[in-house]
Amino acid sequence: MTNAIEYREIEKSHLAPALFEDFDRRQVVTRCLRKVQGQWVVKEAPFLDQWSEKDYEFLVDCLKNTLDQGGAVYGAFMAGKLKGFASVEGKPLGTRGQYRDLTSLHVSCDQRGHGIGKQLLGLAVKWARAQGADKLYISSHSAVETQSFYESQGCVDAVEIQQEHVRREPFDRQLELDLNRYGKTGGKRG
Ligand SMILES: CC(C)(COP(=O)(O)OP(=O)(O)OC[C@H]1O[C@@H](n2cnc3c(N)ncnc32)[C@H](O)[C@@H]1OP(=O)(O)O)[C@@H](O)C(=O)NCCC(=O)NCCS
Repeated sequence: MTNAIEYREIEKSHLAPALFEDFDRRQVVTRCLRKVQGQWVVKEAPFLDQWSEKDYEFLVDCLKNTLDQGGAVYGAFMAGKLKGFASVEGKPLGTRGQYRDLTSLHVSCDQRGHGIGKQLLGLAVKWARAQGADKLYISSHSAVETQSFYESQGCVDAVEIQQEHVRREPFDRQLELDLNRYGKTGGKRG
């Protein structure tokens, strides 16, 4: 399946709402992780995650800003149509500048579970390593299936929580990915 997918960096001039015409953010969430007395527990939290036209306009502005600030945006294209994307910021985060911020990673609902997310994460890892980062920082969606994905890739709770992310998305789980270990530990990682 992934053989038919082309992965490439997206330039600023290509960023427009029309790029997302064949991308469907839809996510039917039923269960999420919530922290209760210091422990992550699964809770029923049914809702539908979907993006409006305004959300796509905002997304495009954010991705343009990522590129303006020295970050990178990657796309997964199937027959020329965007089916997944990832963005990673250029600005270092953390007390030692050890983090680069993975600000988006999304696969269209019709193509999830075929390895696209893993490939896009791999591209973000490669880019962040080349920038000299030690870790990716991820303010992640708390849905159980999203968490299973990040866990399968070796992500763990972030050591240095970035409060700006917590303020923006209080229900997100703050994760990090060790770039020195990613892809070297066998199993499904890398
Ligand atoms: C999370 C997301 C990016 C993962 O991308 P994907 O292409 O669907 O995932 P992959 O096919 O690359 O999966 C890699 C591994 O993650 C795990 N995984 C992925 N989806 C899973 C699911 N629904 N349930 C359990 N494990 C899952 C599996 O271990 C999988 O490995 P395997 O295929 O060998 O079993 C994608 O599902 C998505 O966009 N979800 C909705 C939006 C979202 O949550 N984005 C993240 C915001 S922080």
